[in-house]
Amino acid sequence: MSDPVRAPSKSARYLFVLIAGLLIGAVATVMIMRAIQARQDHFPSSLMTVMSKQTQLLSDSQKQNRCSINDTSPRLQTLRSLANDLEQAFPSLRDDQRFQLSASRLRATLNDALAKPPADCASLAAVSQKIGSDCKACHQDFR
Ligand code: HEC
Repeated sequence: MSDPVRAPSKSARYLFVLIAGLLIGAVATVMIMRAIQARQDHFPSSLMTVMSKQTQLLSDSQKQNRCSINDTSPRLQTLRSLANDLEQAFPSLRDDQRFQLSASRLRATLNDALAKPPADCASLAAVSQKIGSDCKACHQDFR
């Protein structure tokens, strides 16, 4: 006489264990990644993200022919204030002379731009280009 209740086959059991293992692995990976992310300092990348947004907005203004001092000086002021925190954001680089030089070049460019605000699109383009090359100078060394 055969058993009416059939025991699950061995391969079904292996399959179950395999799927459970994969699921547990996936959940654990997400948890670990979240934990690592939470421990990271978001200040450096946030500072860069906001600086990048401000330079993007400056070049958008230029493309839209909105190049008055009222259009651009809030961006330049924000960039200038943010540039104060470069050393704060990258404590491991702040003692490097090239880093200090790049940071102060960017601040000097922004000081000049605020002292003699670009009054038309041509001078805004020149300022934007100078800011961009200051960003690039530091990135070439440290990014
Ligand atoms: C004095 C140095 C320095 C200057 C000046 C600088 N950056 Fe950076 N930037 C860095 C470093 C270092 C990183 C790499 C950060 C990292 O990977 O942790 C970086 C990364 C970035 C990133 C990537 C951020 C991310 O998501 O991780 C962007 C965008 C950026 N910078 C934009 C800019 C813009 C725009 C400017 C100019 C207005 C600028 N940066 C000026 C040092 C600088």
